[in-house]
Amino acid sequence: MPKKRVTILISGRGSNMVALIEAARDRDFPAEIALVVSNEPTAQGLERARDAGIATAVVDHRAFGKDRRAFEHALQAAIGPHRVDLVCLAGFMRLLTPWFIGQWEAKLINIHPALLPSFKGLDTHARAIAAGAKQHGATVHFVVPEMDSGPIIVQEAVPVLPDDTEAALAARVLAVEHRIYPLALRLIAEGRVRIENNRCLVDGIPAPLAGFGDR
Ligand code: GRF
Repeated sequence: MPKKRVTILISGRGSNMVALIEAARDRDFPAEIALVVSNEPTAQGLERARDAGIATAVVDHRAFGKDRRAFEHALQAAIGPHRVDLVCLAGFMRLLTPWFIGQWEAKLINIHPALLPSFKGLDTHARAIAAGAKQHGATVHFVVPEMDSGPIIVQEAVPVLPDDTEAALAARVLAVEHRIYPLALRLIAEGRVRIENNRCLVDGIPAPLAGFGDR
């Protein structure tokens, strides 16, 4: 089966992007990274993508002012020539409109640093600690117009330790992110994920929570 072609959208350091690029180096990985696009011209991830020999593009949202639709048309135009099958958001800090999301229905995925549906939005680690949560984690999900919603593909938990700082918890979650994002991309690219009633089935069954809860 031909490999699925993937665009990764970033805004910053791009560590999840690197995890996807590294996974895709494996001959047997069912997807290849065709393009990395950043809305931030100075994103560190751009340099890391170039170092890895991946094509990059910048679509600076500032050039479009408040016109999100024009920004997204430019984004779509940058992606178009690369014949892309799937789009991965990896620390992409712009909200996308239903128009763009509709162009990529069931082909657009995101990683969020929390166990959704808990802690949507920003500052998830500080909020998990402040809430006294005992477990936290990361989620890869399909993107739908409502922010940080959408069918959950893979989720892995980490413990929140009594003396955790935001940085310590973030590092523990990030290690999980770098594992589950390539896993989720692999499952989708292999055609093993189906959406039924807004829930994902993997190989026909709801996949369990992975992580420390299993150990
Ligand atoms: C990650 O924690 C990701 O889950 C969130 O933004 C962060 C991006 O980090 N959406 P990086 O750019 O992948 O290093």
